[in-house]
Amino acid sequence: MKFATAALATAALAGTAMAESMAVLKQRKLDTWAAQNEAGVFDINRYAALAATTPCVNNKAGEYACSNVDLISFLRHQDMGSSTRKGNDVWGWTSSTGREFGAVGQTDGTAFVEVKSDGSLVYLGRLPTQTTSSSWRDMKVIGDYVYIGSEASNHGLQVFDMRKLLTITTPKVFSITTDLTAIFKGFGNSHNIVAHAEKNMIYAVGTGTAAGCKGGLYMVNVTNPASPVKAGCLSAGGYVHDAQCVVYKGPDTRYTGREICFNFNEDTLDIVDVTSKTSPVTLSSTGYTGSSYTHQGWLADDSMRYLLLDDELDEQDKKGVAANQHTTTYIVDIALLTKPVFKGTYQSPAVSIDHNQYVLNGRSYQANYGSGLRIIDVSSLSTAPTGSGIKEVGYFDCYPEDDSVGGKAEFTGTWSVYPYFTSGFILLNSIERGIFSLKFTGA
Ligand SMILES: *[C@@H]1O[C@H](CO)[C@@H](O)[C@H](O)[C@H]1NC(C)=O
Repeated sequence: MKFATAALATAALAGTAMAESMAVLKQRKLDTWAAQNEAGVFDINRYAALAATTPCVNNKAGEYACSNVDLISFLRHQDMGSSTRKGNDVWGWTSSTGREFGAVGQTDGTAFVEVKSDGSLVYLGRLPTQTTSSSWRDMKVIGDYVYIGSEASNHGLQVFDMRKLLTITTPKVFSITTDLTAIFKGFGNSHNIVAHAEKNMIYAVGTGTAAGCKGGLYMVNVTNPASPVKAGCLSAGGYVHDAQCVVYKGPDTRYTGREICFNFNEDTLDIVDVTSKTSPVTLSSTGYTGSSYTHQGWLADDSMRYLLLDDELDEQDKKGVAANQHTTTYIVDIALLTKPVFKGTYQSPAVSIDHNQYVLNGRSYQANYGSGLRIIDVSSLSTAPTGSGIKEVGYFDCYPEDDSVGGKAEFTGTWSVYPYFTSGFILLNSIERGIFSLKFTGA
């Protein structure tokens, strides 16, 4: 949680690093993107369409630096019907027959693509924003539905049935009235959407003041997607930037079977038992050295012993270990949910800010802004919990503009990654360029 003013003196005495506020973070990004806009970065035809699949050879795939990651396919934001041509979040959906689709966030809406069996991308259509454009749009999938929120004023939660894509032959602009399964207006703007598929729960985080939840977990029951229902709110820890929620099966057997959320709360990792939606219980709230803006993270393994955490401003603010601006991932031992312990850090060979990371089978797929997709092997944590055994096993740098200076800690490049398709094709959404279909070729 952010320290309230009254707690400032105590925090300073305790030597606790003060984190930036959300307003500061958002403004820094808006300033970056405004300057880029001036420089023509989002102009139409600024980027060339990809002519053909481009394998990574001698650390290059076309203009992109890479290692063990092939460039299979690419669509520019303009090729996906966006008139603002600026990307953000991305998530995936797999149909009952195994066809794979992406929901690609853009400031003016959500574009839909199919990832064909050879990894090539086909644009199918788009769902415009519910209100205005916004740099922040976030989407997650439960079952056959995608749930979309945005910082756009009064946006609410769009519920869209991805099965509508199965029969598309020419790209279609879907209607924000007649093509939605539902529009939930219980909250207006939100910063992120968290999905707990197993429990049919959506947690909107970073909602505005009108939502009355202090930006904490705004809980929406989507058991019936056509009729989302507010189930509760966690405001005790204040603003939540992102979260992962699970049915707990880790080492702290006191909580086996409970619904646990790991909340990234600006300057702390908060662990909360949300089994009761009407009276959630905070189990711990833990700060760490170097904290600047606790942003996102993911459980490092299925046994739920370790968690990876990224701080979005430590590199730019040169705080703690991240003073050298190499992307820094924090490793947290969560053997006791009531007493998480920060064990160490992993630093990328690259200079850049980290944004979103998702773990699959011992690897974390990190979308690290200016250094692009970074794939790290985290399977060593059980024997080396400080992170000393973590190794980069592949990368695809979708932002060549900062390569000549060895990378920069700036809000440019990629926003997010979706690594969960059975086919192994990875979707990487770039803010400037568009959506990449990639393939990891490492061992
Ligand atoms: C969600 O809604 C379903 C029915 O629509 C209900 O059975 C279930 O108890 C609800 N869950 C919560 C946590 O409110």
